Amino acid sequence: MKLDFVHIADIGSHVGREVTLKGWLYHKRSSGKIHFLQFRDGTGTIQGVMAKSEVDQGTFELGEGVTQESSVMVRGLVREDKRAPSGYELTVKSLEILQLTQDYPITPKEHGPAFLMENRHLWLRSSRQHAALRVRDTIEQAIHGFFHREGFIHTPAPILTPTACEGTTTLFQTDYFGQPAFLSQSGQMYIEATAAAFGKVYTFTPAFRAEKSKTRRHLTELWMVDAEASFFEHAENMQCQEGMVCAVVERVLNDCQAELKTLERDTAPLEKIKGPFPRISYKEAVELCNKAGVQIEYGEDFGAPHDTAIAGSFDRPVFVDRFPTSIKSFYMQPDPQDPTVVLGSDLYATEGYGEIIGGSQRIHDLDLLLKKMEEHKVPYEPYKWYVDLRRYGSVPHSGFGIGIERTVCWICGLSHIRESIPFPRMLEKIYP
Ligand code: 4AD
Ligand code: MG
Repeated sequence: MKLDFVHIADIGSHVGREVTLKGWLYHKRSSGKIHFLQFRDGTGTIQGVMAKSEVDQGTFELGEGVTQESSVMVRGLVREDKRAPSGYELTVKSLEILQLTQDYPITPKEHGPAFLMENRHLWLRSSRQHAALRVRDTIEQAIHGFFHREGFIHTPAPILTPTACEGTTTLFQTDYFGQPAFLSQSGQMYIEATAAAFGKVYTFTPAFRAEKSKTRRHLTELWMVDAEASFFEHAENMQCQEGMVCAVVERVLNDCQAELKTLERDTAPLEKIKGPFPRISYKEAVELCNKAGVQIEYGEDFGAPHDTAIAGSFDRPVFVDRFPTSIKSFYMQPDPQDPTVVLGSDLYATEGYGEIIGGSQRIHDLDLLLKKMEEHKVPYEPYKWYVDLRRYGSVPHSGFGIGIERTVCWICGLSHIRESIPFPRMLEKIYP
């Protein structure tokens, strides 16, 4: 595309030439004779140097008066500068202010999270937020790339659904022309159907959970990638997850060094993320927790302290599998060796970032599925189509769902999930 201006990301190919940049004033520093104007344009930042001796008086006064986050058009000469963070500097020749910003609320001083969240629409322009969301984009691209290389087809799942996928306690209900409908908790069931049509599939869909608890790890609206593969069994399912996670980490380390530096992410733990990941059973995980002093009874579900104790024992993500049937979803395949546990796994990220993936082999036997639905009080009528998949050419199949925001938190080293998505939706929080 031919433009009459250049982007800061491409500035390296314009050294020695005069260019036009369009963007915003990010920071300013002045001595009497020189203005140091840092510009940003979304693709990067660059320092512009405006010397009184080199521009006319009117231009120098514009440099004096321009404020943080004013939108600007600037012309200048691109110079290589080894000391500059970007490696380049701009000798400013002229400046046009498109809009002079007054009283930008987010100043370089420290602000509390409540204030920043009220101004999330502006906070996104800050360097840390910018870096985290760029890493997020790379993670998403890496996931698409991985699945396409592996021959998976992207088949979207609906968001408005007549049924629940992950139990009824976290359902958002809405009205669908007089009928109750629910916001999807996961695309899984629908892609079990597309897997029978296409073999290997995935969907990149928002998921909704009416989570009533306020934590650093829970959103009410998140993005989930569900994948499903016909004829994959439990071990193959975990192998696929492992391959995807390794591909994502490798791609971020390769493409996002500058962003990780801005985020002050220690990359050493990420460099170690290589397969094979350890695999332990729920039973072993319970023992591990109790040994680590985080008490838990066999049969209870893990909470954040358990996640941390489990993951803390490994320097790679760890799969925990064979959970008791009672704490997992009705559709999970019981272990043929021990039907009191299921062939389902959770993948815990390193360094205490918690569960990032949930997956399982699905029940493919018609009678067993009907029996489990009855046990879990899942009504037949609304799930008839799902049961049909076990009626017409049923095959063993498995799949998993990865939470994008949890993954972003882990890879970026974010302590709170609110910074992993442009507009987080959390308990009682829907503005902006
Ligand atoms: O473990 P979950 O509930 O699994 C499922 O929904 C399956 N149907 C997926 C499948 O087999 N296709 O959710 C999957 C992942 C979790 O591991 C977590 O990363 C993320 O989705 N997740 C959340 N992330 C942020 N906030 C929440 N409230 C989340 N709930 C789940
Ligand atoms: Mg889970």
